[in-house]
Amino acid sequence: MNKLIVDAASQSYPIYIDSGLLTQTNLYRNLVQNRGVCIITNETVAPLYGSILKETLAKSGGNLNQIEIFVLPDGEQYKTLATLETIFNHLLQNQFDRNSLLVALGGGVVGDITGFAAACYQRGVDYLQIPTTLLSQVDSSVGGKTAVNHALGKNMIGAFYQPCAVMIDLDVLNTLPDREYASGLAEVIKYGAIRDAEFFCWLEANIDALNRREQSALAYAIERSCQNKAEIVNQDETETGIRALLNYGHTFAHAFEIELQYGTWLHGEAVSAGMVYAAKLSRQLCQLAEDDVERLEDLLLKAHLPTKIDASLNRDHLLHHMALDKKNQSGSRRMILLKRLGDAVVVKDVRESEIRSVF
Ligand SMILES: NC(=O)c1ccc[n+]([C@@H]2O[C@H](COP(=O)([O-])OP(=O)(O)OC[C@H]3O[C@@H](n4cnc5c(N)ncnc54)[C@H](O)[C@@H]3O)[C@@H](O)[C@H]2O)c1
Ligand SMILES: [Zn+2]
Repeated sequence: MNKLIVDAASQSYPIYIDSGLLTQTNLYRNLVQNRGVCIITNETVAPLYGSILKETLAKSGGNLNQIEIFVLPDGEQYKTLATLETIFNHLLQNQFDRNSLLVALGGGVVGDITGFAAACYQRGVDYLQIPTTLLSQVDSSVGGKTAVNHALGKNMIGAFYQPCAVMIDLDVLNTLPDREYASGLAEVIKYGAIRDAEFFCWLEANIDALNRREQSALAYAIERSCQNKAEIVNQDETETGIRALLNYGHTFAHAFEIELQYGTWLHGEAVSAGMVYAAKLSRQLCQLAEDDVERLEDLLLKAHLPTKIDASLNRDHLLHHMALDKKNQSGSRRMILLKRLGDAVVVKDVRESEIRSVF
């Protein structure tokens, strides 16, 4: 089993990575003893993994009367304050106290909402992340960003609140649909592009094994991704500095997602195309080599990800969405760009005409 430690300013905690973690009772013993446990999951993941996990937690010493599974509807559209309230209702009606443990069993939607529920319930209870999509395993379960959406913006209501542990079971990826899997690979490739050139080369050499979901390749790619994310979070938990580099490709991606009304592309697919446009912009503004742009595009294509937007997408609308990006500060347009593969920088005062030219 691989074990990493996140050592954030507010809290340190372990990330375990292995196959079969959902049934390893030893791992959960200290976490569940003598407390109520509420597993929060959704209607897709519950029938696949809910009862396996419940049985493991029961065997590992959790108070049997107080192990509940609470099932949410599946989908980003339910990552709302209204859903959060159903969680609080359930916890209160079942007398979960301040010593309780919440367990997020699912993808990033379940992880984000459960984390935020834990941050708020009785002013804060412990929670455990058990991410079941590749994207949530390499990205959202690590680093303590929790949130729900508001009608006026994604992730607008939330908190930084770290989990007490992250359990990454490789076996759960076997049931993940192909597009969801590829979407997670986009974030894996992002770590190579922004800060880990050696990993980028490894990904180029091992992309076929990853596409086949071979366990040893997957274990390595997930570990290296989590390591990269942990190193960034350790230095900058609340995104006042280098954590912003994780948004590489995301200013473009968010604009594509908004313009496509979140219906056409999965997040990782939008990030994939966004990273290619950001690389083209980097070629103009940061002297990124043409060869590096091509290597990034090739790797994403081999991972079955999109690398360009449809000609019909309205460029003025996209530029408008990008101008409203959260990373902009006092009117200056800030973008994450690459100097070379494995080396990202923040660039200020990017002009609209420069972005327009890469479309
Ligand atoms: N907190 C962070 O730092 C952070 C970072 C990135 C993304 N996010 C958030 O994460 C969310 C996206 O997460 P996601 O991509 O995991 O999407 P998701 O949670 O919607 O999961 C994708 C789909 O896969 C299903 N699923 C999950 N595990 C499965 C499994 N093992 N087998 C079969 N189906 C399974 C889900 O039910 C869902 O239908 C967004 O809300 C985004 O804002 C948060
Ligand atoms: Zn992302």
